[in-house]
Amino acid sequence: MNLRPVTDDDVFRIWRWQQHPDTRLFFRKLAHPTWAEHVYWFAERLNGLQQGVEAWDIIGYAPDGADVGVVNVSVEDDKRMLGIIVAPEHRGKGVGTEAIVAATLKYGGRDKLYAVIHAGNKASLGAFRRAGYKERPELRSGSWLMLVSS
Ligand SMILES: CC(C)(COP(=O)(O)OP(=O)(O)OC[C@H]1O[C@@H](n2cnc3c(N)ncnc32)[C@H](O)[C@@H]1OP(=O)(O)O)[C@@H](O)C(=O)NCCC(=O)NCCS
Repeated sequence: MNLRPVTDDDVFRIWRWQQHPDTRLFFRKLAHPTWAEHVYWFAERLNGLQQGVEAWDIIGYAPDGADVGVVNVSVEDDKRMLGIIVAPEHRGKGVGTEAIVAATLKYGGRDKLYAVIHAGNKASLGAFRRAGYKERPELRSGSWLMLVSS
């Protein structure tokens, strides 16, 4: 498993992963962007113009280093939030758990990382918990749980 920064060449693969019908089921923003909207959003984010985005990495997986997902760290309400998408064809094989561990080691440092996860998103809850994240019940907001790295 390795993490490498997103580049211009990743615009289509991230689009493909985001467009899969299962991917956005538990996103806070449910609507699927158009290709034009995606390209605009991608360029802004890559150029660092989007406020609060600290890191954006592609997950490469051994043995062939295939691109199997994407992680990002962004600041929301003074908290550093970790987000992740695993390519649909690579889900359920431990990739998400391993990538969360790797991203937390790379970007957590002395600070905690947080994740906001819908209570129905069993795969995400499973992956973050298995990676050592713990729920903070006092930070729950309705169906949205807040987990923090240990
Ligand atoms: C959430 C996501 C990143 C998890 O990645 P993954 O590689 O599929 O997760 P893992 O294979 O590491 O699974 C982690 C745990 O969750 C469980 N899990 C995985 N998919 C599951 C599912 N559909 N339902 C219930 N549990 C599931 C696994 O069994 C595993 O638990 P175990 O180790 O106790 O068996 C991936 O499903 C995804 O990209 N989803 C769409 C985007 C998304 O929701 N991102 C998170 C936003 S907070």
